[in-house]
Amino acid sequence: MSVDLLLGLQWGDEGKGKIVDVLTTDYDIIARFQGGPNAGHTLKFDGISHVLHTIPSGIFHPSAINLIGNGVVIDPVIFKGELDKLAGFNIDFAKKLYVSKKAHLILPTHRLLDAASEAAKGKAKIGSTLKGIGPTYMDKTGRNGIRVGDILLEDWKTRYNTLRDKHLKMLANYNSSLEYDLTDLETTFFQSLETLKSLPLIDSENFLHTAQKENKKILAEGAQGSLLDIDFGTYPFVTSSTTTAAGACTGLGIAPNAVGDVFGIFKAYTTRVGSGPFPTELFDEVGETMGRVGKEFGATTGRARRCGWIDLVALKYAIRVNGVTQLMMMKGDVLSGFSTIKVCTAYKTKEGVIEHLPFSIEPENVTPQYIELQGWKEDLTQMSSESEFPATFNDYIAYLEKELETPIKIVSVGPDRKQTIFR
Ligand code: IMP
Repeated sequence: MSVDLLLGLQWGDEGKGKIVDVLTTDYDIIARFQGGPNAGHTLKFDGISHVLHTIPSGIFHPSAINLIGNGVVIDPVIFKGELDKLAGFNIDFAKKLYVSKKAHLILPTHRLLDAASEAAKGKAKIGSTLKGIGPTYMDKTGRNGIRVGDILLEDWKTRYNTLRDKHLKMLANYNSSLEYDLTDLETTFFQSLETLKSLPLIDSENFLHTAQKENKKILAEGAQGSLLDIDFGTYPFVTSSTTTAAGACTGLGIAPNAVGDVFGIFKAYTTRVGSGPFPTELFDEVGETMGRVGKEFGATTGRARRCGWIDLVALKYAIRVNGVTQLMMMKGDVLSGFSTIKVCTAYKTKEGVIEHLPFSIEPENVTPQYIELQGWKEDLTQMSSESEFPATFNDYIAYLEKELETPIKIVSVGPDRKQTIFR
């Protein structure tokens, strides 16, 4: 049985958590393949919002297995906090939540290094979530990292001390004014590891290969968005993992020819949190309204998200890099009330007008070119079928589908599970 992938096509925060939660009923296994607690996947049902950072978004499904894959980086302290928050939901984690032994651990000193490194960058800072993501992936690729499986080894403490001491030397080099109590941080860290140890720590690629043989349905859940990919994103203003489809192969051990559908999630407009270029960003009342109506505040950091019109140049790029087979459009309801909807279809550059994403999309290199479509006034949030949509909203969907050459299979008109329209 093939493995389906679900990915964000913009700069993250597209609403992946909600769609995974909606789709979970069709799957036996939901597997996160990259990123870590920098993610904040929000699910809403029965009037309650849940924000997940490390735990896959299929956790509320009564029988699906949720797997944290080898490509993920785990902060045991944040992870324990997430599990504690779900205590009232009667979830048997030991049966439903598996963790790859090859996933890397975020140490307290990784977080300190993240903070010191960002502070040292001054104005050029990336706007990191400061969860230790960059330093942990650096240790992984530098072959210094500590993996979940290591905590079961006898010499684990020695390994930990060696890496921590290395980090402390690096921190001293930053000369930063960062204040911290390492003893305190380490106490919480070691206590939290016990929670991690209480879960099945497994050879996850073998588990998935067996599941594939047994025809189990698997959904790979991405975090962040394609434009934050370490290779294909707006480097250096990116995260440190492969957020695109290839990341599901390396982050879970899935062979490329085992990939089935690729679900690409996008918002009806665009948002970005943190620094970096954003050609269609709005600095006016329209952008402010999108942020307010769309409640565009980071689920992990609470930071206000930057807002702008949809960018088809960037979306087409993400669709191609990922091989998207089906699209899911989120938050069309937020655009209700704008008399005109703008769509960026090309960039003007020094070399002329282009329709592909160039090396740099910094404001001095590209100027977005827009077409204008008629908006709609109606509140979409209570609508339960496509036939209820205003004609101009259906026109917007049809226009995007034609331009993106990919069917839009789901239109989401609100955060709740129920506010999901299948087409
Ligand atoms: P880091 O991954 O925490 O180091 O952050 C690097 C960049 O990616 C920053 O601009 C963050 O704001 C952004 N970022 C990281 N994770 C997410 C996410 O889940 N949603 C949106 N942006 C994110």
